Amino acid sequence: MVELKHNISLKPFNTFGIDVQTESFVEINSIVKLQEILKNNQKEILILGGGSNILFTKKFGGLLIKNNIKGIELVNDNENEVILKVGAGENWHDFVMYCVSKNYAGLENLSLIPGTVGASPMQNIGAYGVEVKESIISVEALNIKDGTIRNFSNAECEFDYRSSIFKTSQKGKYFITSVVFQLSKKPTINSSYGAIEEELKIMGVVNPTIQDISKAVINIRSSKLPNPNELGNSGSFFKNPVVSISKKNLLLEKYPSIPHYLQNDGSFKIAAGWLIETCGWKGKRVDNYGVHTKQALVIVNYGGATGKQILHFSEEIIQSVKSTFDIELEREVNIV
Ligand code: FAD
Ligand code: EPU
Repeated sequence: MVELKHNISLKPFNTFGIDVQTESFVEINSIVKLQEILKNNQKEILILGGGSNILFTKKFGGLLIKNNIKGIELVNDNENEVILKVGAGENWHDFVMYCVSKNYAGLENLSLIPGTVGASPMQNIGAYGVEVKESIISVEALNIKDGTIRNFSNAECEFDYRSSIFKTSQKGKYFITSVVFQLSKKPTINSSYGAIEEELKIMGVVNPTIQDISKAVINIRSSKLPNPNELGNSGSFFKNPVVSISKKNLLLEKYPSIPHYLQNDGSFKIAAGWLIETCGWKGKRVDNYGVHTKQALVIVNYGGATGKQILHFSEEIIQSVKSTFDIELEREVNIV
């Protein structure tokens, strides 16, 4: 029998450090336990990994299931690659460090992202020129309604920039239980993201290994992103907006220095951090919350802020960017 807890604070379970309660709470470490819980449950379900991409704005009135399914299984190993099936509750960064230490390449650019392996396909985590979809073969997930297990191939996951089928048409319907990764033993070094090249120079590295790339990414991230153990936050609060070529040209006429990046489909990604900074929000503090001093895409909780305050603050930023640039920012963080 699995023990439910009631009316406990979620403060230790979200990196924003928001102090709200959940009516019911349970931690599971296996699919069998999960099925047992779901069989006897009538309440609304919320799945929680590391709580690093979630903003709680009120008490959660249902059953919060904290995922703790662990394990790294070697599915295939040959001279070129390995295939690993990884429990969804494994810590993401620990898993990346495991791969880096074994010389399994593909995830090193995604070092130091908080959270769990199971949440990585949710929004197709990405950083420093790499997205996790490039290494995922399939995702195993449990249907919350009937308890059956389904394997989603990479294509079926419908990965996109900070998006997948689990965030769109199948939102809330599946509990991801494990992820299958294909990693290379013959690394292709990806240092295309400008800041990595600069950091490698500072490190004095000429022919980088995946260990060097991982270290460079960790150095860059540590220099501008707040450590959630010291300052509550959820990473980028907003997505970088994607605009058409004509909109990009209009913006460039007025703002020649606007950072813009060509996408495969001919559209352009605009740096939301620049838009927010240009509107004057960078470093702005109101009461116990504000925009991070070193990265304008990050909203921080200095301690004691409520989720409602932060949500309202994010709305003000959205309005400000909209009225200045006629661009509607979309939140990346999941609002509960
Ligand atoms: P949670 O916050 O626990 O959950 C996020 C969402 O996924 C929720 O809707 C939840 O219900 C759902 N979910 C979680 N686990 C499962 C599961 N097993 N099955 C089904 N649904 C599930 N993200 C990036 O992409 N790139 C970055 O560079 C990056 N940098 C960050 C830096 C900092 C300092 C912080 C705090 C966050 C950063 N993030 C980044 C965001 C975050 O780390 C990722 O989105 C991460 O994958 C969230 O994992 P989690 O386990 O904490 O998810
Ligand atoms: N910029 C500013 N001011 C700022 C921040 C950024 O002008 O305060 C401009 C600069 O021109 C800078 C550019 O934006 O060169 C890009 O900034 P950065 O390299 O910091 O990346 P980002 O676009 O702000 C994205 C991801 C991050 C990821 C980094 C590195 C999104 C929403 N965010 O941020 O992901 O770590 O790139 O690849 O795509 C997250 O999702 O939580 C997250 C942290």
